[in-house]
Amino acid sequence: MNIEFSDLSRKYALYQKEFEEAAFRVLRSGWYILGKELEKFEEKFAEYMDAADCIGVNSGTDALILAFRALGVGPGDEVIVPAGTYIASVIGITENGATPVFVDIDDYLLMDADKIEETITDRTKAILAVHLYGQPCRMDKIMDIARRYHLYVVEDCAQSHDALYDGKKTGTFGDIGCFSFYPTKPLGALGDAGALITNNNDIAEKLRMMRNYGSKVKYHNEIKGINSRMDEMQAALLSVGLDHLAEENKMRIEIAKRYLAGIRNEAVKLPCIREGSTHVFHLFPILTANRERLQAYLLEHGVKTQVHYPIPPYVADCYSEWGYQWEDFPQAAYAARHEVSLPVYAGMPDEEVEYVIETVNKYL
Ligand SMILES: Cc1ncc(COP(=O)(O)O)c(C=O)c1O
Repeated sequence: MNIEFSDLSRKYALYQKEFEEAAFRVLRSGWYILGKELEKFEEKFAEYMDAADCIGVNSGTDALILAFRALGVGPGDEVIVPAGTYIASVIGITENGATPVFVDIDDYLLMDADKIEETITDRTKAILAVHLYGQPCRMDKIMDIARRYHLYVVEDCAQSHDALYDGKKTGTFGDIGCFSFYPTKPLGALGDAGALITNNNDIAEKLRMMRNYGSKVKYHNEIKGINSRMDEMQAALLSVGLDHLAEENKMRIEIAKRYLAGIRNEAVKLPCIREGSTHVFHLFPILTANRERLQAYLLEHGVKTQVHYPIPPYVADCYSEWGYQWEDFPQAAYAARHEVSLPVYAGMPDEEVEYVIETVNKYL
């Protein structure tokens, strides 16, 4: 059997007619930037996410950059961020000239909330909670710290669309929630796209201007801005995707449940789910002593896997000036060296899920 890590054509096939109708509607409309499709998607997404406002942008990375900029986070400021995350979380901070302060991860592979307080200084301005792999961070603890120290909270929800912590959606705890709609994400566009959600009207207004050259009215540039607008085509396709987000999440959660119940191999540590959290399993990360060996074995048996992520951002070449060593954050270093993601995507056939389970179980 040949099992892809992810197969977006299968997802497209699930809703082909709706996607094609939406795409043709945009093509025929003659209006491609900042139009009705974006307005409709922003309204729909805000409502779905239980937020007052949504601002569509070009990518999840832009959403993070604009979030910190709108909050006035800049040079001299520090932002607390997990040591184990995708580099884009950190880019959101460094592109504003601010300094990331790393906190190691816990057994759930998320920022260890018990280690946040010891990193707070007078320069700390914000905490970036990254709901990595689809699992929410400990938001009660993070919000409590933020309130006590008067810090902003930005949530990186690039992988956690519709994930819940204590019944509340990720992205609605802090000041701003940032989403990526990169095609493989739980809600994926057919190109690059992202969004921010917030319950603060002033921040929403500022973000809406910032993504459009800093203007509300053409050629009247009130604040410094950039060009980061979600286009009409992506907005229309995302509106279709949003109608199916819950059912797609359910499909992935079902696959994850089958992996959790079926995989029995001492060489593999399965992901832990925190009580009270709804993990949407954007990814299914396992840990194993010899990653290269497991990946080679699975590939030999036709199962493609990936690694998320092999190099933690604190030791990325582009940030070498900070001088961090891998072992400065042992848990993040361990995950970066031992994590393997198994295939999990909407439309993955049952027999493929079974085959992955059987194949992992036979690994010696
Ligand atoms: C955790 C996390 N944050 C941010 C991003 C950035 O999103 P985008 O690729 O849309 O810029 C990603 C995308 O992979 C991500 O996984």
